[in-house]
Amino acid sequence: MDTVLAIETSCDETAVAVVKNRQVLSSIVASQISIHQQYGGVVPEVASRKHLETINLAIAQALDEANLDWSGIDGIAATCAPGLVGALLVGLTAAKTLAIVHQKPFIGVHHLEGHIYASYLSDPELKPPFLCLLVSGGHTSLIYVKDCGEYQTLGETRDDAAGEAFDKVARLLNLSYPGGPIIDKLAQQGNPLAFPLPEGNISLPGGGYHPYDSSFSGLKTAVLRLVQKLQQDSSQPLPVNDIAASFQASVARSLTKRAIACALDYGLNTIAIGGGVAANSELRKQLQQAAIKHNLQVLFPPLKFCTDNAAMIGCAAAEHLNRGHTSPLTLGTQSRLAL
Ligand code: KG4
Ligand code: ZN
Repeated sequence: MDTVLAIETSCDETAVAVVKNRQVLSSIVASQISIHQQYGGVVPEVASRKHLETINLAIAQALDEANLDWSGIDGIAATCAPGLVGALLVGLTAAKTLAIVHQKPFIGVHHLEGHIYASYLSDPELKPPFLCLLVSGGHTSLIYVKDCGEYQTLGETRDDAAGEAFDKVARLLNLSYPGGPIIDKLAQQGNPLAFPLPEGNISLPGGGYHPYDSSFSGLKTAVLRLVQKLQQDSSQPLPVNDIAASFQASVARSLTKRAIACALDYGLNTIAIGGGVAANSELRKQLQQAAIKHNLQVLFPPLKFCTDNAAMIGCAAAEHLNRGHTSPLTLGTQSRLAL
């Protein structure tokens, strides 16, 4: 039973957590969203500086809320890749320094492995194999989870991630950042059948489309063309709710179709969802309906574990530590790294 203090600073949340295997003892998430909102997206340099200002306080708070001092910590972990290099460096350097000072093992964790482990936090009895549908601002992946450290990426986006598409479409509809939750809310008042939009299929040379890979940049461009056409044809205000609902329904159909096909093809009975887009009401609805139809189980962890947090990193690290896996202190950061 290993207790790990974990740090996650890959993007715009300064997060620190203490996790005992699959049990969260504390989880601090200091969001920078309000700072980046004024720029319409995350500014990497600003993110690094903010992490630096916040990290020590967040570490102290995480220990305090877990009611522990350093003697109760068995290992120190941090996200090492992928992400914004300057941002990652803050968390990774803090974790390595603490590991040296307190003479604890250090564990570097791949950010996507953390997202996979978020499902274990809400369902500690979950056992591999299962399929993880990871849909965030940076990733859209279908990952076959065979065991701890054994992952196969079966599907990916060829361009924009699903969350990125939500944010870009929101921007072209003059909505603020992050766009996903706003589009989700507006879509409740809109007609998802108002405008037919593409589902992000990747055509294959012999005909048909790739069963698991997706593309969202074409969908984003289709929304742009639609907006331009509507503005040209009419002086009425844009039917933003209908556009939001049609776009959202198209993303949800695309993700649901691929996740279900992948689970069925690989004989996996459980699909675990992760990443911020897992909050999307239409995606949840479509996935749940399709899962019932195909006799599959879909796990939606609470949103606090779906969006970036350090508890998921701690859970992955504890699992590795239990198996005697640690990382060298020479481990560096990487902006891109396959799982
Ligand atoms: O996992 P996350 O918090 O951070 C990343 O690792 O990227 O995901 C953030 C993304 C943003 O693109 C945001 O617009 C999207 O998740 N998002 C949503 C919803 N809530 C957040 N997208 C669609 N519907 C939502 N309700
Ligand atoms: Zn993430």
